[in-house]
Amino acid sequence: MNRKKFLQIITLSTSGGVLFGVDSLLQSCNSNNMGMGNMDMNMNGNTNIIEGTFENILSFPETHSSPLTLTAQFVQSSMGELNGLGYHSDRILGPTLLANKGDSINIRFVNSLTEPSNIHWHGLMIPSDMDGHPSDVITSGNSFTYTFIANQRAGLYWYHPHPDAFTAKQVYRGLAGLLVIRDSEESSLALPAGEREVFMVIQDKDIANGTVQYSPSMMQQMSGLLGKYVFVNGAYSPRYFVKNGKYRLRILNGSNARIYNIAFSNNMPFSVIGSDGGLLPDAVSVNEVLLAPGERIDIIADFAQIGLNNNVFLLSKMFSSGGSQGKQQYNIIKFVVNAEANDNTNVPNHLSDIQKLDTATSLTNRYFTITSGMMMQHTINNKTYDMNRIDAVVKSNSVEVWIFDNTNGSEPHPIHLHGAMFQVVERSGGRGMVFPHEYGWKDTILCLSGEKVKILVQFGEYKGTYVFHCHNLEHEDAGMMLQYKIT
Ligand code: C2O
Ligand code: CU
Ligand code: CU
Repeated sequence: MNRKKFLQIITLSTSGGVLFGVDSLLQSCNSNNMGMGNMDMNMNGNTNIIEGTFENILSFPETHSSPLTLTAQFVQSSMGELNGLGYHSDRILGPTLLANKGDSINIRFVNSLTEPSNIHWHGLMIPSDMDGHPSDVITSGNSFTYTFIANQRAGLYWYHPHPDAFTAKQVYRGLAGLLVIRDSEESSLALPAGEREVFMVIQDKDIANGTVQYSPSMMQQMSGLLGKYVFVNGAYSPRYFVKNGKYRLRILNGSNARIYNIAFSNNMPFSVIGSDGGLLPDAVSVNEVLLAPGERIDIIADFAQIGLNNNVFLLSKMFSSGGSQGKQQYNIIKFVVNAEANDNTNVPNHLSDIQKLDTATSLTNRYFTITSGMMMQHTINNKTYDMNRIDAVVKSNSVEVWIFDNTNGSEPHPIHLHGAMFQVVERSGGRGMVFPHEYGWKDTILCLSGEKVKILVQFGEYKGTYVFHCHNLEHEDAGMMLQYKIT
């Protein structure tokens, strides 16, 4: 079954979509690429990033609160923007949903694609029939209303399709959006807000004729698709004007497989205040931080360190143990400091009292080895996804110790759990530590090659079947995903 399914996926994904339109912006990136042909793919199957001129305007998806209709559809943007898939009619990605902790959410999903889709609410602990389980799909032309309570800490969550074997292609072509939850704890901190709170979805994509092109090679099917162009909120090579004060940058890595080592071009320190599940206990000053697919980071950057009328780039630095990744440094977005901020924001050092889950009691331990199966396909405990098999049964509201072991792996894997949040207790091998920016609540954890990560998982209250998987979406679609059941 494994090999058959894997080959079937390759066939499906290379049959591609119809191409539309011609786009001046992206023709310019194609011309940057001229003469390189397919040579930008090195021996490792690593695709190098091609930077633009950082003159495009960074735009933002509209913000909305519930109730709302999201229609997955092909979008042909106005001049200069990207064609692909979107949840609104005029641009790729989806609206940014705003909610307060405790709100009831009501989202009608309409599938105007020609294939099955659904919506998964990444990071939320909600009933399994609302979670966008891979087998719970809405077929072409049909709709479904997702209703749930956003009973979650303030944080940056997100939504994206999760249909079995089609997730990678649909997300890559543009289906993803942010879900921002606020609460009173967060607002009492008076963090930079309004124009100084900037939401960024970072994604790499390949483009043909102005349209997102999902056509991974056999090699990229196995290692994950790395695009040649980096986009922020759907804008290629963007710039953004800022004042010389503190900004709250809230970043989602919405890429299929690419890991970014986020830093600034002047190497200035920045402060990490939150991650997947909201605020950290304490702000952490860093110069760089790895952000894997699915992970979010909340940082305070102080542009007062940059003189008026100067620039600084947010970039990705090189890093090691990333398999074919991490071998190139490239810019992501240019910040142009063009005005005085009159900033008196004071970001406190202590942010939130996070109760540590207790390791002392005797908890169930589960061990998951990351292995390579047939054709180098990735497996968890030598298994690939089977929607008719439950791989673990846990009790609602319980805590367990889960260990993901990539000791013998040669590629990085960001592991993500649905229906749960966790705390990271130990990382051995590789980087050999849990980083202070990982001290909060997480739903996705990066295991670089050689690493073994131990997490304490808090399962939710709702009974039902959930998945956990590698958030390298090519790995996921090829079956690097198992199921657990809350009883
Ligand atoms: Cu964002 Cu199952 O994933
Ligand atoms: Cu998820
Ligand atoms: Cu993986």
